[in-house]
Amino acid sequence: MKSAIAFAPASVANFAVGFDLLGFALEGMGDTVRVTRIEEKTVRVRSIEIGEGLDRESFVELPKEPEKNTAAMGLLEFIREQKLEYGFEIEIKKGIPLGSGLGGSAASAAAALLAANAVLDRSLEKSALIKYAITGEAVASGARHGDNVIPSLLGGVLIVASEENTYARVALKGDWHVAVLYPGFRLDTRRAREVLPKTITLKAHTRAQTRLAMVLAGLAENDPEKVRQFLVDEIIEPARASLIPDFYEIKRAALDAGAIGGSISGAGPTVFALTQGRVQAERVLKSMGDAASTRYPKHLRMVSSISAEGARVLK
Ligand code: HSE
Repeated sequence: MKSAIAFAPASVANFAVGFDLLGFALEGMGDTVRVTRIEEKTVRVRSIEIGEGLDRESFVELPKEPEKNTAAMGLLEFIREQKLEYGFEIEIKKGIPLGSGLGGSAASAAAALLAANAVLDRSLEKSALIKYAITGEAVASGARHGDNVIPSLLGGVLIVASEENTYARVALKGDWHVAVLYPGFRLDTRRAREVLPKTITLKAHTRAQTRLAMVLAGLAENDPEKVRQFLVDEIIEPARASLIPDFYEIKRAALDAGAIGGSISGAGPTVFALTQGRVQAERVLKSMGDAASTRYPKHLRMVSSISAEGARVLK
């Protein structure tokens, strides 16, 4: 039977200024999925393995029923729409904590699709997988948004148009890095979406648009001061901060240590801070760790470059 293994990285969605429309991939951390072709036109989740250092208890309820599993759900739609005469068995190895705000469900969906694509008789372009990956991701969050799954699949910083299943790559100049701190508790994306305001004023909308445009320009022009001034979220971050005790202390520690900006990664509770260069990112991360250590002694943290490679077939 044909089989392939693919890896898809963790990702930071929203990037403070682009709720549901902006995200980037990280390096190092990610999910790995092995996909094997089977004769039945269905998807079977054979195993879900939890990687080293992750809290096993938080994964216990990860469902194996295909309709409830993010990795399997995208494949079901893929089989149907591509009119495949066979199905897939999948083995998932989780490397991303569940409900961390680091795009774990997205990475499983992206890796499963990329591995399945590798065992087709004729593989599709990576971008043709976007739609199915968003379907998979929607199982976890209850909404179709591709700001984790598209960067995880394709790498880099991406503006995503989830309804249209498309994206634009943000030009990046400079040595952008991020310090990422996961406090170690699980936050359900659905819950983190329920606390968001349903409406905003026209003025807030204009300010948000200005910030998004200025940050994108600052990233492309390698202008950290512009990014520093405009990497601000007055809509989503204040609504979610109360779900992450000590969020403002951790963010303040990052800024005091020289971070250009920072906010909640995706739906949280992970906090990210943007820097230029790995050395500054290491310094910022240490400061964030010190601020988090009393309340969150078991936090996980990492430094990553911001322009990472996306999902890839391992073998
Ligand atoms: N943009 C999404 C959110 C990412 O913030 O809810 C989490 O899946």
